[in-house]
Amino acid sequence: MPKILGRFLRKITAMDQVKDLLAITPWWAYVLLVLLIVFLRDIFQKKHTISHNFPIVGHLRYALERIGPELRQYIVANNREELPFNRSQRSWIYASSKKQNNYQGFGTDQDQSAAGYIFINPALFPYYAQPDHPNVKEKDLIPCAKIIGEYNGRRRPFRPRSIVNISAMSFGSLSARAVESLNLGAHEAGSYHNTGEGGFSPYHQKGADIMLQIGTAYFGVRDEEGRFEMKKLLRLTQSYQQIRAIEIKLSQGAKPGKGGVLPASKITKEIAEIRHIPMGKDVVSPSNHTAFTNPGELLDFIEDIASETGLPVGFKSAVGKLELWEELTDLMLERNVGPDFITIDGGEGGTGAAPPAFANHVSLPFVFAFAAVYKIFQKKGLTNRVTFIASGKLGFPSNALMAFAMGADLINVAREAMMSVGCIQAQSCHTNTCPAGVATQNKWLQRGLNVNDKSQRSAQYLKTLRKEILEITHAAGYEHPCQVTMDDVDVGMGDNNYTTTLAQAYKYQKEAVPFNNMLELVECPHLGGIKSPEVHAH
Ligand SMILES: Cc1cc2nc3c(=O)[nH]c(=O)nc-3n(C[C@H](O)[C@H](O)[C@H](O)COP(=O)(O)O)c2cc1C
Repeated sequence: MPKILGRFLRKITAMDQVKDLLAITPWWAYVLLVLLIVFLRDIFQKKHTISHNFPIVGHLRYALERIGPELRQYIVANNREELPFNRSQRSWIYASSKKQNNYQGFGTDQDQSAAGYIFINPALFPYYAQPDHPNVKEKDLIPCAKIIGEYNGRRRPFRPRSIVNISAMSFGSLSARAVESLNLGAHEAGSYHNTGEGGFSPYHQKGADIMLQIGTAYFGVRDEEGRFEMKKLLRLTQSYQQIRAIEIKLSQGAKPGKGGVLPASKITKEIAEIRHIPMGKDVVSPSNHTAFTNPGELLDFIEDIASETGLPVGFKSAVGKLELWEELTDLMLERNVGPDFITIDGGEGGTGAAPPAFANHVSLPFVFAFAAVYKIFQKKGLTNRVTFIASGKLGFPSNALMAFAMGADLINVAREAMMSVGCIQAQSCHTNTCPAGVATQNKWLQRGLNVNDKSQRSAQYLKTLRKEILEITHAAGYEHPCQVTMDDVDVGMGDNNYTTTLAQAYKYQKEAVPFNNMLELVECPHLGGIKSPEVHAH
C-alpha cells in the first residue's frame, strides 16, 4: 500500500513538472513544433509530389485551390463573367425571390454588340390591359395557351396555370427540405413541379400539380429486376390526383446517353422505399429504356400509359442527331397518335452529377436544339398537336421570351429555382457537401434551410419571373407570350452592331398558336394550379 501511494505521489510531481514546462514554453515554440511535424510528414509521405518537394509551403497551393472558386466569385470576378450563372443573374434571382428591389440604375452594363445578344423589339404602343382584364388584378397570371393532351383526347387533359414551372430534379439529388420548399412554392405560384427520375416522394406532396417523371431505372414504378410496372404507376396516379402529366425521360441536356449511379452509401431507408430499390448496393440507371427501343415502340408506350392512366404523356430529350425525330414524326402522322408534350432540354442544362465531357460537349445548346426539332414538327404540320416545353437557362425574362418566340409553350427552370431556395452556385451537387443544404443528403447541412422562408422565396421568384415576362410581352404589343413571333426578337451577330431576327437566324417562322384572350384561358375547366390547402390524396 505505501508503495502504491509513493508511486502515485511521484506521478503527480512529474505531472506538475510537465505543467510548469508547458507554462514557460513561449507560443512560437508550439508553432515551430507543429511546423516540424508537418515538415516531417510532408517529406516522408509519397502521395502528393508538391508537398513532398516543397514541404509546408506546398500546402498553400492546396488551400488556395480549395477556396479559389469562392475568392473569384466574391472578390475577383466581375458582374457578368461567371458561368453557368453570373453574379448579375444570381443577384436578380435572389432579389426577386426576396421581393427586394431587383431593378438596376444608370442603364445597361452589358456589351450589347456581343454575338448572341437578345433584343426584344418594342411596339410603338404597348399592349393595354382594360380595367376588367385578369392581369389588372393578378399581374403575374399567365396560363399555358395550349391544353396538354387535348389533341389526343386524353381523359384528363391539363392546362398548366403557369407558363413557368419547376424542372425535373429528384429527391436524392436535392435534399428533402429543398424539394419541399420548391413544392410549396410551386403550389403557391400555381406552377407544376416535375419530380425528376427519382420517384414521387412525400416532399413532392405539399399541394403543387405534379409532372411525374419516369427515367430508365423506373424508380418508384419498377419491379424487382428494374423493369417498368404499369400496376405501380396506376396505383400512384389513382391515389394522387395532383399528378397531372407523365414525362418519360429519354435524356437530359447535361448527360444524354448516360445513366446515373446512386451509390449504396447514399441510399437511405426512405430513398429505398420511394424508389423501390434494395438497400446496401449501388443502383445503376441504365442509359437505355427497357420498355421500348425505337420511335414506334416509344409511341406504343406513350399510348399504353395514357390509356391506362387517362393522363397526358410526353417525353424529355436533349437533341443531337435528327433522323429518329424524322421517323417519330412520320409515325405520328401515319398512326395519328403521339406525345402530348415534348420537353427540349439544352446542352447547357444542369445536373446533379455528370462527367465533364458529357456536360460540356454532348448535345446541342437550347436555341439550336429547339429550332432543329421544331422545324421537323412544323414541316409535317404537327406543331399544334404537341405542347413544347423548353429548358436550359431560361429562367430570366428575356431568355424566356425568346423561347416563346421560337415556339415554346411552357418553360421549366431547375438551377434558377434552386437559387431561389438558397443555392449559391457552389457547384458541389455531386459531392454531397452543398453548403446551402439544397443538393445534399447531409442532415446537418440541410438543417440551415428554413422551409417556411424558402418556399415563400421560390413562389416569389416564379411570380416575379412571370410578371416580368408579361411586362415585356406587353411592351412588344401582345397580350400573351404565345403571340410573340420570330420577328419580334433580334439576335446580335457580333459584327459592328449588326443584328438579325430570330426568323432569319434560325430559318423558320413560328406557327401561330390558337389564342383568343387571357380570360378564356383562366376560365378553362382543365386549368391546373388550384389552390386547395390540403394535399389531394385519395
Ligand atoms: C441537381 C439537378 C438534378 C437534376 N435531375 C434531373 C432529373 O432527375 N431528370 C431530368 O430530366 N433532369 C434533371 N436535371 C436537369 C433539369 O431538369 C433541367 O433540364 C436542366 O438543369 C436545365 O434547366 P436549368 O438551366 O433551368 O437548370 C437536373 C438538374 C439539376 C441541377
